[in-house]
Amino acid sequence: MKLEISPSILSADLAQLGREIELCEVGGADAIHVDVMDGRFVPAITFGPIIVKACQRVTKLPLDVHLMIVEPEKHLEAFAEAGAALLTVHVEACAHIHGTLQAIKRLGIKAGVTFNPGTPLDALWNVVDLVDLVLIMSVNPGAGGQKFIAHSIDKVREVKRILAEVGSEAVIQIDGGINTETAKAAVDAGATNLVAGSAIFGSPAGIVGAIGALRNAVN
Ligand code: DX5
Ligand code: ZN
Repeated sequence: MKLEISPSILSADLAQLGREIELCEVGGADAIHVDVMDGRFVPAITFGPIIVKACQRVTKLPLDVHLMIVEPEKHLEAFAEAGAALLTVHVEACAHIHGTLQAIKRLGIKAGVTFNPGTPLDALWNVVDLVDLVLIMSVNPGAGGQKFIAHSIDKVREVKRILAEVGSEAVIQIDGGINTETAKAAVDAGATNLVAGSAIFGSPAGIVGAIGALRNAVN
């Protein structure tokens, strides 16, 4: 499977968002990762559907929307209508994770499920047939620029084992603290999609250079 890189616009210069997304395209990004935070599931508040819509106007790249919000089922339609190609929900935030993933699929878009660093993967067995992507959080969600949590690598390996056992071709995504030092171990363990915020938008190499450096680091 080709390695995908999904820059997280949480660390972008939001006053220049259109230009920054354009540079992600030039650099060969595979998707744009949009971190939605509600001030409840995580302390910070970030973007809503209108920002997803604004992104859709400036790029053809798929919009990968990571919902760090409580009761995500109330907002699925709004994000799908705004142009999300993929909606990823937290098992910790869903009272009915199976039903919420079914609801995403009914909207005709891709569904992702994600697990915080402290959450075991048990629930994955029960929803694996519904998901196009499994996201392993390698930091506690809520902010960019945090330190990579090393045990996430074992979880990625475990996800890979579970997917192989059931014959799923779901993407394994990792998010948090991914940079040229941590990416290779994640990919060797089975991650096929890397989310990176500060390593791309905060890099002195620039956005295009940083995406290239991340790809080189895993080869
Ligand atoms: C964290 C977000 C991440 C964040 C990653 O809650 O889900 O997508 O932007 O930022 P970095 O790559 O800086 O750790
Ligand atoms: Zn994210």
